[in-house]
Amino acid sequence: MSKGISSQLILPKGRGFGLKDGVLDKDQFRKVIPVLAAKVPPEKAGVLLKAPALKRALIDVPKVKSVARGPDQQRLVLFRYTDQADLSPEALEFLQSESAELVSHELTFDYDYWSSDEVIHAILPEELEAEAPSGFAVVGHIAHLNLRPQYLPYKHVIGQVILDKNPSVRTVVNKLDNISTQFRVFSMELLAGDPDFVVTQSENDCRFTFDFREVYWNSRLHTEHERLIAKFSKQDLIADVFAGVGPFAIPAAKKGCAVLANDLNPSSFKYLTLNIAENKVGALVRAFCEDGREFIRQAFNRAWDEPLAPVLPPKIRRTEQKEIRAGERPAPPPGPPRNRIGHFVMNLPDTAILFLDAFRGVLSRANAGERDLSGLYGEASMPMIHTHCFTRELEPAKAEEDIRLRVEEQIGHALGEDATFHWVRSVAPQKEMYCVSFRLPRAVAFAS
Ligand SMILES: C[S@@+](CC[C@H](N)C(=O)[O-])C[C@H]1O[C@@H](n2cnc3c(N)ncnc32)[C@H](O)[C@@H]1O
Repeated sequence: MSKGISSQLILPKGRGFGLKDGVLDKDQFRKVIPVLAAKVPPEKAGVLLKAPALKRALIDVPKVKSVARGPDQQRLVLFRYTDQADLSPEALEFLQSESAELVSHELTFDYDYWSSDEVIHAILPEELEAEAPSGFAVVGHIAHLNLRPQYLPYKHVIGQVILDKNPSVRTVVNKLDNISTQFRVFSMELLAGDPDFVVTQSENDCRFTFDFREVYWNSRLHTEHERLIAKFSKQDLIADVFAGVGPFAIPAAKKGCAVLANDLNPSSFKYLTLNIAENKVGALVRAFCEDGREFIRQAFNRAWDEPLAPVLPPKIRRTEQKEIRAGERPAPPPGPPRNRIGHFVMNLPDTAILFLDAFRGVLSRANAGERDLSGLYGEASMPMIHTHCFTRELEPAKAEEDIRLRVEEQIGHALGEDATFHWVRSVAPQKEMYCVSFRLPRAVAFAS
């Protein structure tokens, strides 16, 4: 019995195959495999494909059609074998009854046929094959890898394969260090493709443009962004202390919220401003580029001095719009301008808790000056503070205790029973990310 074609369609693994002088040699991936075929007129091809006698003999190879074009307008129904002797007597008898002629046909498989994993496993030497890199994150058109040191000699080849095999990827980069800088950016090197690092990424029905080398972006936070935005009502005024390029601020504004959005990184501020304009929420978002502590100290005063856009009126039906234009119906009155902050968002998990002391006395006369904000901020109308943080405690109860103590130390006040501790994700084996949400105690904000 001859070998079935599936067994010939396997690339070697762990053999350093497909490279020439350390560079990808696509020609080496070309394979020509002869298969047995039944030559029939076009109208007969369907009959053969449906025949029970041939069912087990038909070709069954991913991405290969069972029928190919033959000479003289004929069709070739392909089998999984190369040799006529491998067909069952029933199959042969059926083919004879249909006057099908058995011929040999060549199938060509080239570099494009193989999956990214198959090519990478073939290229790597044996000792690196078992744990070959398989995953990567995608931000806009950039595929972003985090290669371990032993794979670095193959980094450009791996990058090239990922580029070739993923049509939406135009640039492949490798992360060079851990995020440790103040602005949470990491350096990266180009492995393959265009040296173009300005991406456009969609999230929560908004489009974000930014230079991936210069600002923080993490697509894994998508659900966390969505979760907090769902907590805001469209009447709310939000203060986003570490706004980045706007993944909380801009979708919140799309929902109808007014937003004060801040980021100290000038590049984040530049793209935040651009994204506000591109998503057409300029009437609702005001952007700042200052230190988070200073932003918190000024936010209440700014909202009081220059209230933000009023709540949008409810959507008006077309017929009503016509009547309003014709003067037959009064236009709905705009809501009151928004001057009371309902939520603070503080997503800088490494150090956000350390900024909480900025809320101490923030509404006191010493900070608010002549403004009397005591009527606006009552016990029940104090803003909610959502602070992201890391903890080394893996057990939820211990994590909660650790975070609670650190927050209380900064605000100088006990957290109420209504404080919530939401687990966001595991960042590293011993590092969990949480979001603690609590209502700013009035006594803290008005403390002198
Ligand atoms: C973890 S990122 C979060 C960005 C965005 N909110 C998000 O969810 O993707 C933290 C942001 O805080 C900014 N940042 C760091 N230190 C800051 C500071 N002292 N004041 C204001 N922003 C700061 C960084 O530039 C970065 O954009």
